[in-house]
Amino acid sequence: MRWKKQLLTLTPYQPGKSIESVKRQYNLEKIVKLASNENPFGCSKEVLSALESHQPGFAIYPDGYATGLREAVAEFVKVEPEEIIFGNGSDNIIQMISRALLHPGVNTVMAVPSFSQYKHNAVIEGAEVREIPLVNGDHDLEQMLAAIDDQTNVVWVCSPNNPTGTYVSESKLTAFLERVPAHVLVVLDEAYYEYAVAEDYYDSIALTRTYPNLIVLRTFSKIYGLASLRVGYGVANKSIIQALEPAREPFNVNSFGQTAAIAAIKDQEFVRECREQNQKGLKQFYDFCQENQLHYYPSQTNFILIDLEQDADTAFQYLLEKGYIVRSGKALGFPTSLRITVGSFEQNEGVLQALADFLAEVNKVVK
Ligand SMILES: Cc1ncc(COP(=O)(O)O)c(C=O)c1O
Repeated sequence: MRWKKQLLTLTPYQPGKSIESVKRQYNLEKIVKLASNENPFGCSKEVLSALESHQPGFAIYPDGYATGLREAVAEFVKVEPEEIIFGNGSDNIIQMISRALLHPGVNTVMAVPSFSQYKHNAVIEGAEVREIPLVNGDHDLEQMLAAIDDQTNVVWVCSPNNPTGTYVSESKLTAFLERVPAHVLVVLDEAYYEYAVAEDYYDSIALTRTYPNLIVLRTFSKIYGLASLRVGYGVANKSIIQALEPAREPFNVNSFGQTAAIAAIKDQEFVRECREQNQKGLKQFYDFCQENQLHYYPSQTNFILIDLEQDADTAFQYLLEKGYIVRSGKALGFPTSLRITVGSFEQNEGVLQALADFLAEVNKVVK
């Protein structure tokens, strides 16, 4: 068979280890997974009751236009229903954008380290990938602009960024958008938008009104606690959405996901509570890092990247054997750091104690 050559250079996405596999491998009773930036508080109760009464009929396809969900999201973000596209997770929208705009002979610009799927999909489509290193954890927007040329079709801005948790300020983002040529689609990936509290955080939806080459991606997988149901959405002006729609597979959002997401977006009280808890959780991590003189990036997300100045895989393995699944920074471009999802108060205490034990063992902790 004549597979695309570039497929041979890629490895499949490495998800965080699953609770079940770790339980079995290490014969542990209790496992805490803080690896994939899921919501430790689950999802809104409203979602659970909506799903209980959801009787789709398994033989029937879901609504391919996601009509009810479209109305609910349109009302929430205050755009027209035709200005939204839905995905089987925002991963699926990244894939559609790549499929629609990337091919051999064109290039795409992104920060590195950032979310792996931009590059992964661009490589599959055969586009040239231009990676611009972060500076102090931040997107280097000047260098990203400098990398754009006539052959650039897509530029990716992950804000807040995975894996650093940093964000682009409003003034920097608008100055950047002003200068990106009109033929380039700017993808602003806001998977962690609901966690952001910075004062100079921007109103991304309003920016899509001003900049006709901007699409904003959001997801129900993070603060809404619906990662398993796979629902993400993109907001942009109608012409972008219309151009992308043919690249969307039919029925890409299942009916459980649609029902759950409608209930989820209507319960903003749950979102507020989770954001508050997350702020408290982040403080536990910040205090620990300050006490132990560890470098971290202040985070606008529900995870934190901590530099242990130790081999990340060794630290990862140590925590794993204590029952904490986190993410080694090695595969994320930070070989001495761990990326840890902010959990509940107790989970944070537990993982930080295990981390203190690890650091004590390697004689790094300042007590
Ligand atoms: C920055 C970023 N974008 C997109 C995604 C994909 O999210 P989903 O496909 O679950 O919506 C993730 C998941 O971790 C992410 O961190």
